[in-house]
Amino acid sequence: MVLIPTTVLKIDPESPEPFLIDRAAALIRQGRLVAFPTETVYGLGADALDRAAISRIYEAKQRPAGDPVIAHIHEQAQLPALSIDTPEAAFALAEHFWPGPLTLVLRRAPQVPDNIASGRDTVAIRMPAHPVARALLAAAETPIAAPSANRFTRPSATTAQHVMEDLDGRIDLILDGGPTNIGLESTVVDLTGPAPVILRPGGLVIDALRAVIPSVTLLPRYSGDDALEVAPGQMLKHYSPNAHVCLFRGPLYTVLLAMQAAAREHIETGAIVGMLVADEDRHHLEKDLDPAVIISTLGPRNDLRAISHNLFAGLRYLDSCPVDVILTRGFGREGLGAALWDRLTRAAEGHVIEVR
Ligand code: TXA
Ligand code: MG
Repeated sequence: MVLIPTTVLKIDPESPEPFLIDRAAALIRQGRLVAFPTETVYGLGADALDRAAISRIYEAKQRPAGDPVIAHIHEQAQLPALSIDTPEAAFALAEHFWPGPLTLVLRRAPQVPDNIASGRDTVAIRMPAHPVARALLAAAETPIAAPSANRFTRPSATTAQHVMEDLDGRIDLILDGGPTNIGLESTVVDLTGPAPVILRPGGLVIDALRAVIPSVTLLPRYSGDDALEVAPGQMLKHYSPNAHVCLFRGPLYTVLLAMQAAAREHIETGAIVGMLVADEDRHHLEKDLDPAVIISTLGPRNDLRAISHNLFAGLRYLDSCPVDVILTRGFGREGLGAALWDRLTRAAEGHVIEVR
């Protein structure tokens, strides 16, 4: 593709400057590409009602055409322009969780270009909470299609710097509102089938969803141990750094010992080894570990918000060192642990090492 200059503009994440928002909104209306912060990850935005603009997203990201994109809105009044036959559950969930890290898959209205949904008769819709995203959506006066602002298969972008690394020269503008808060993408719930199904665990935890729609279920791939069954566009190779990722699971101290042993083996083969772990893990790992191993910590063990917030930055950091191998571990399946486990298994391309 022909490279274009990418402008980066710092913007106040709490009260975005109107002249910056107007500049970004004008680009969206012209069918151009603007990356902007949301509370989950940075999005790569284009006019959701403009087929050519949506195609530009796929081209910039080098994303396969079969991977559908989320349409973002800033008020519920925009729903009828995007979806039809909207079920009662959608309004109940919107009432509770919008604006926020929840995406609803609904029946697509005929005027919405089919390339947003890779030809499906559905459309995924989210109302983000981030002030910059909300201001941009209001000023653009059109829904904005936005996947995560990373190159296809790379970890999602949680800072403007990450967006630059992946998309410099391929998009028109990046609004730099600092690091995103949640750090993992939204939870995607499909409401088009006989019962609501979570297609992707994310920033909104499953127990919160269950409190509003008790019948919601998780795709079998998330409840079972295998990572083989995949939702549309949820192919396993996703969120992958360049380094080979080994994901360990089992009792904590056994896992840490296994990680030390694995580090030794990899170093013997001449590999540069990185570890992505919780703060307290470092102390245990460092005893009896080759000082050449690069340890990156994500946050306190029991603070899954901090770990989620730092995950993609941690993967990108170790990649940039660069390391050949990243050894990491699961953080349970409770709360944000479910989404963390999903992103880690994808980063590891299903390469999970079970220890006892
Ligand atoms: O938090 C987020 O959701 C971020 C921010 C920018 O909003 N966006 C995001 O977009 O993560 P993306 O494209 O990286 O992931 C969207 C996922 C797709 O992989 C796909 O699985 C699902 O949402 N999706 C989108 N449209 C769908 C549809 N019509 N049917 C089923 N799944 C859909
Ligand atoms: Mg993505």
